[in-house]
Amino acid sequence: MITLTVNGQPRQIEAEADTPLLWVLRDELGLTGTRFGCGVAACGACTVHVDGVPMRACSLPVEALAGASVTTIEGLPASAGLAPEALHPVQQAWIDLQVPQCGYCQSGMIMAAAALLQANPKPSDPEIDAAITNLCRCGTYPRVRTAIRRLGGAA
Ligand code: FES
Ligand code: FES
Repeated sequence: MITLTVNGQPRQIEAEADTPLLWVLRDELGLTGTRFGCGVAACGACTVHVDGVPMRACSLPVEALAGASVTTIEGLPASAGLAPEALHPVQQAWIDLQVPQCGYCQSGMIMAAAALLQANPKPSDPEIDAAITNLCRCGTYPRVRTAIRRLGGAA
């Protein structure tokens, strides 16, 4: 049994120790906002925050996370001190600028963007490009960058 905090709640995890966090979130805890894309830490669809740091849940064995605090897209507003049903500013910007197309990659994009802005509230374009390495088959990269620049006060 492994104990970790997920979206502010302590959870006892029953999965095998080497189970990737992604499947614990989706299959054991029912948090399906975190997506499976590649499974090899390449696409970022599964991005969550672990102790505030963006990480790729498909490649994190849950045993390595004992005692950690995990935030998923479902818990993003509350992690910023907002009501659980509120929209995080990154989510609102994504709506305002109509960033998503099919949407599949976007929870990972939002989690990566939120972590970037938390660490660096006014990122430059090179800093955005360095931090947002998530892949999007729909090519939403220009709007992702515009939304982050707007949140940073640069657009
Ligand atoms: S599914 Fe985790 S990085 Fe692609
Ligand atoms: S919005 Fe479709 S894959 Fe990114």
